[in-house]
Amino acid sequence: LANGLAATPPMGWNSWNHFNCFIDEKIIRETADALVSTGLANLGYKLVNIDDCWAEISRDEKGRLVPKNSTFPSGIKALADYVHSKGLKLGIYSDAGYFTCSKKMPGSLGYEEQDANTFASWGIDYLKYDNCDNDGSKPIIRYPVMTRALMNAGRPIFFSLCEWGDMHPALWGANIGNSWRTTNDIADNWDSMVSRADQNEVYAEYARPGGWNDPDMLEVGNGGMTKDEYIVHFSLWAISKAPLLIGCDVRNVTKETMEIIANKEVIDVNQDKLGVQGKKVRMEGDLEVWAGPLSGYRVAVVLLNRGARHKVMTARWDDIGIPPSSTVIARDLWQHKTLKQRFVDILTATVDSHACKMYILKPIS
Ligand code: DGJ
Repeated sequence: LANGLAATPPMGWNSWNHFNCFIDEKIIRETADALVSTGLANLGYKLVNIDDCWAEISRDEKGRLVPKNSTFPSGIKALADYVHSKGLKLGIYSDAGYFTCSKKMPGSLGYEEQDANTFASWGIDYLKYDNCDNDGSKPIIRYPVMTRALMNAGRPIFFSLCEWGDMHPALWGANIGNSWRTTNDIADNWDSMVSRADQNEVYAEYARPGGWNDPDMLEVGNGGMTKDEYIVHFSLWAISKAPLLIGCDVRNVTKETMEIIANKEVIDVNQDKLGVQGKKVRMEGDLEVWAGPLSGYRVAVVLLNRGARHKVMTARWDDIGIPPSSTVIARDLWQHKTLKQRFVDILTATVDSHACKMYILKPIS
């Protein structure tokens, strides 16, 4: 969507994966504090996104959405002011139906203009728009109503389409939103994570600056996967130009989680200005090579071993778009090392089970 937002994939935090419906303004404020104090904000994680369950079940007498008094007594405007004072942005959530998925608050169907204006008046920067409890009409009918309402609301608001991929939003989302979910909800386990990456990969050609495929939010730090598996999760999201929305409790983030989500070299792949989504360029059983071009004639590569045993894997220039016989310098983004060896035509490495290697390859001659 040409609203000047989303030149690179969005980065920040969202309440849903960790807190589900159990959110309140204290969590949101402390999360904003934590994003700043951990240094995550400086790395680009600027969005603080409130998901489902922030509003009362009934609108007020004028039809306006009302922040839930028991959990958000200060209101959303005050939260937005707080979040903005820290140099961050505030995201909120609604639904293109009568009620949101939790059934604990109203949706925006029929109230698009009013709600867009309310969000803008509060200082909202990002809207995630879910698809529960709708009237059965096609999303391509209902979503653009909110697009227009946001465009008329007088404040640039990133528009995240959360239609779960059922109606192939990659095919129609580019002029309606800034990102579109290509999958249903992620769960905090290996199979769920890699299958979201697979489903999202199919639509690689549709991602570009202004509009991104969204395989759902990060589970890194929520405890359901090994460290290597979370490294795979983060590497695949980065090379896929997916939104990097942290889904753990950043107020209590561990060193191990920080090593993953604060890996600047991997974040830089995601935020590279070329904005081309990486994809699978070779699949051999459990072994997959993912690659995507970066600015400066560089290429990002992930060697992914989905199998149960460690394996030797090969990235071939032929597969990844580097001219034949080129000599290449390889930077290992998880070891934080530029390899001493120079590589010609191929690079091989041993990759552990449920693990990956991630490189930036730069041809030098
Ligand atoms: C479904 C969405 O896909 C989730 O990300 C989350 O927003 C829930 N709904 C909230 O009910």
